[in-house]
Amino acid sequence: MPSQPITTLEIRNRKAKGEKLVMCTAYDATFASILDASGVDLLLVGDSLGMVIQGHDTTIPVTLDHMIYHTAAVARGAKNAHIVGDMPFMSYKISSEEALKAATRLMQEGRAHAVKLEGGKEMAETVRRIVSAGIPVMGHIGLTPQSVHAMGGFKVQGRDNEAARAIIEDALALQEAGCYSIVLEGIPAQLAQEITDTLDIPTIGIGAGVGCDGQVLVCYDLLGMSQDFKPKFLKQYENLYDRIHAATSEYVKEVREGVFPGEEHSFKAKKFRVVGDTQATNESKLYSTIG
Ligand code: KIV
Repeated sequence: MPSQPITTLEIRNRKAKGEKLVMCTAYDATFASILDASGVDLLLVGDSLGMVIQGHDTTIPVTLDHMIYHTAAVARGAKNAHIVGDMPFMSYKISSEEALKAATRLMQEGRAHAVKLEGGKEMAETVRRIVSAGIPVMGHIGLTPQSVHAMGGFKVQGRDNEAARAIIEDALALQEAGCYSIVLEGIPAQLAQEITDTLDIPTIGIGAGVGCDGQVLVCYDLLGMSQDFKPKFLKQYENLYDRIHAATSEYVKEVREGVFPGEEHSFKAKKFRVVGDTQATNESKLYSTIG
């Protein structure tokens, strides 16, 4: 019997059971299948793809069509993981109806199991509209990368009492509007702990300390694919930049030296016959293989 992906109900129950949730970004089918096999619970097709896949400085240039393309690829590669499709910049802030249409496309064409959107209490009505249409919504508060210009950079949020209070209110408003979980990004660990203790729904942290109900990292970051992205919150579990660099440098060397492909990588014909003018030069002869 085919396995069933993890549901929003199971995700909520994990909090009650005190079992940590593991989320990781994925952008294609190959990574999705490996991460899924590793036991990652949730695959987030994050709009961070604008930075790690497309090479932009921010997530702002990412479109809904880009998100649908990558979400569908991840959905094809995963078996068990719960797939969350990120709603890109301005696809959900113009009106609740526009937001519902965008969320519908991520579910229908992208095969996501849920959508994620950035913002706090100002997004409550939109969350309510999407949730009431039967689409699960994950919230995202604290450092919200789509607002990078408004925030004045990718900066830790909620460091003073007033800002912390506003983030707690955002979390409560999103829960009340029907979110089944919330990403807490770039906030002090004590604040994330307080929000986690206050909410019934699970929190998933990135740069928010160990007190959250789960953690999320960008897959390329945790694998060490970028040499110069090493923020404080990140643990690199591998150094794939160096390993890929070493492997591909070896490939370059072997091709240049005529070492690759070797005999073992080359096909052999069963029988071989030269056709055409036997008087012709080697270059102009036609070759064909026969049965
Ligand atoms: O786009 C993304 O990858 C995200 C995570 C960092 C939470 O939103």
